[in-house]
Amino acid sequence: MNRGLFITFEGPDGSGKTTVSTAVARRLQEEGYQVLYTREPGGIDIAEQIRRVILDPANTAMDARTEALLYAASRRQHLVEKVLPNLEKGITVISDRFVDSSLAYQGCGRQLGIEEVMSINRFAIEGHMPDKTIYLDVDAETGLERIEKGRTYLDRLDQESRDFHQRVYDGYHTVIERYKDRMIILDASKAAEEVIEDAYNAVKGLLDA
Ligand code: TYD
Repeated sequence: MNRGLFITFEGPDGSGKTTVSTAVARRLQEEGYQVLYTREPGGIDIAEQIRRVILDPANTAMDARTEALLYAASRRQHLVEKVLPNLEKGITVISDRFVDSSLAYQGCGRQLGIEEVMSINRFAIEGHMPDKTIYLDVDAETGLERIEKGRTYLDRLDQESRDFHQRVYDGYHTVIERYKDRMIILDASKAAEEVIEDAYNAVKGLLDA
């Protein structure tokens, strides 16, 4: 049996990643493709517990390296418990966020450095990089306006400064440059329906190839 494709969706806060990736997965499932939608921590109990600690707004004392290690630990558990077993069954796995989020948020947002953060993630993911990544591009300002309008609850990272979100945005562009061959970049400043259509066409293209 052929291994499934591992596709990730990435983008800054407010890029519409979750709306777009769930819609794309649903549409493909309805058409009969074997697709699993997941997001870190993906309903994996251990990963959920780790994630709760990371995002709790009360954890103001959290050190940036601790945060990076916890994301890597949560990622590891989600990978081995959910992503890999499904890929092995030939199912396409669409994950809302993966290692590039840590490179952009912890590497650049928290200024730990992309290489430093990649090194702990290498340990966590043991070479299981995504086959393709759909990057939803929206500038930091537009992204923040969207989350401030749309949400009543802002987690510890949403509450970070504008400078932090600008560094995340710039960080994503460095990551894209580094992993050019893996990246499909979509303009996410457009209306949601258009972005969904673009992302759907991109993923369907990969599955039909
Ligand atoms: P997520 O649950 O994907 O929320 P959203 O729907 O806002 O994208 O991610 C929560 C926050 O965690 C988000 O601000 C991005 C951040 N994050 C990191 O900083 N590093 C990571 O490795 C991951 C996966 C997420």
